[in-house]
Amino acid sequence: DEINNGTAVTGVGGPADQRLAEGEQETTLTNRQGHPITDNQNIRTIGNRGPSTLENYHFLEKISHFDREKIPERVVHARGAGAHGYFEAYGKVGEESVAKYTRAKLFQEAGKKTPVFVRFSTVVHGVHSPETLRDPRGFAVKFYTEDGNWDLVGNNLKIFFIRDPLKFPDMVHAFRPDPVSGVQNMERMFDFLSNSPEATHMVTFLFSPWGIPANYREMQGSGVNTYKWVNANGEGVLIKYHWEPIKTGIRNLTQNEANDIQGKNYSHATQDLYEAIERGDYPEWELSVQILSDDEHPELDFDPLDPTKLWDHEKFPFLPVGKMVLNKNPENYFAEVEQAAFGTGVLVDGLDFSDDKLLQGRTFSYSDTQRHRVGTNYLQLPVNAPKKHVATNQRDGQMTYFVDRAPGQNPHVNYEPSSLGGLQEAPPRGREHEPAYNAKLVREKIDRPNDFGQAGDTYRKFEPWEKDELISNLVNNLKICKPVIRDKMVEYFTQADAEYGRRVAEELGKAVASSEHMGTVQNREGAGKAEQAGRKTD
Ligand code: HEM
Repeated sequence: DEINNGTAVTGVGGPADQRLAEGEQETTLTNRQGHPITDNQNIRTIGNRGPSTLENYHFLEKISHFDREKIPERVVHARGAGAHGYFEAYGKVGEESVAKYTRAKLFQEAGKKTPVFVRFSTVVHGVHSPETLRDPRGFAVKFYTEDGNWDLVGNNLKIFFIRDPLKFPDMVHAFRPDPVSGVQNMERMFDFLSNSPEATHMVTFLFSPWGIPANYREMQGSGVNTYKWVNANGEGVLIKYHWEPIKTGIRNLTQNEANDIQGKNYSHATQDLYEAIERGDYPEWELSVQILSDDEHPELDFDPLDPTKLWDHEKFPFLPVGKMVLNKNPENYFAEVEQAAFGTGVLVDGLDFSDDKLLQGRTFSYSDTQRHRVGTNYLQLPVNAPKKHVATNQRDGQMTYFVDRAPGQNPHVNYEPSSLGGLQEAPPRGREHEPAYNAKLVREKIDRPNDFGQAGDTYRKFEPWEKDELISNLVNNLKICKPVIRDKMVEYFTQADAEYGRRVAEELGKAVASSEHMGTVQNREGAGKAEQAGRKTD
């Protein structure tokens, strides 16, 4: 029976059993009880002027379903677009055998294809916010492998603001709209950033044109965090993942270009992706990895697990492992894109976690929020379910859609171990990767924070127009901030690169002087309170 073995429903089309009652056609409108609807224009009333009666089942079902059409939006990355496609392995890593480093099956053979679903997103604002905002872009890929799902939940930028997950809720609060006014306030954002020196590198990327990719097709992706690959002997190496757009190259926008687009279109990136796929111009990305041996690397001036750092690609080359093609739009935005659930914990055999603390914090957060946002049984939805055998002893919970039972499983045995025909553990997949630890349990920051060195390198690598944009974007946002915040930020930029700091300081000085000249007051809140109290501001 289909309901019990978990094969009942795939995709958007609904249950397999579509028998027609007499007089019905395939397109006959019904309610969800299967009752044909003969009148979808008028509710039942006493006389045609009303009042209505409470037994209008069709109306009640329709309106109460409508009342529940929205689910909580993602707490971050709410605005997004998605597409289906495939990943095709090259069967090697650079010029070497991939098996030397990982036993993950999806990478082993040249030409092997794995279906994927991808969701791109912006981060800070809500589900209908403009796609032109200065923000990292999410780049989340779900690989439906033969060994179960692998999610590579990345961003377009290769680094992150913070390195400790304890700071993430504060960071997001500071970036989001003010809890009182409901309006984003850059002073709150820079208040947090000026007290988080490790963010200086990310700020340097974000306020440059790299903070507004032209659209989703013309941008890179990166796993940001460090992961591991594990081979058949259980030996691990450190890995960073990178996606490069193959067909288009990378294109970023100046603030003025973004403003122009935003004046006309709030959805230019979603539209661009959808239309490209509709016309058969399928976007492609190449996946590369950087590999480092699994140790602390005392020779580097930073910790390789620190997500605020790049691994220099001249020392640690990008080694291609495959390419991804997106060739199918979703059939339904809500069912697929909105309900898609990606998480950093979702790895397959041959892929592993590194000790990166941020990564471990993320790994709890994703499935936790998805049990709240989508529901306990979110993994039974077609977009999230693996495209392979699934058999668990998990039962029940809201919206249980089918029973995750193996066809040969004794239905009475929903526990393990058992001798009565229940599920059994799989045989070992290869040698376990078993890193050894001998350290004190502490609350401490890492030893080589080096908060400014790479921010300076990144600034110096920008082209002149990118530097100009960076300075003007920073100044336009910092000029509304209190001096204590401006001064700290300038100090960080100066530590990164003397010219960088000097240019921000000079331009900021001019911008502040001219806005004071125009009679605007720096501390608006303070000024307002003083005026209300009938006192002069100083
Ligand atoms: C989405 C948490 C850092 C990339 C999310 C969501 C949460 C979250 C709760 C919403 C998930 C959902 O509703 O399905 C965190 C925490 C972080 C962190 C706690 C740090 C401690 C990062 C980093 C990256 C990233 C470093 C980039 C590598 C994404 C992406 C999504 C997302 C791409 C959207 C996934 C989708 O399209 O559904 N994050 N995040 N996050 N995060 Fe993070």
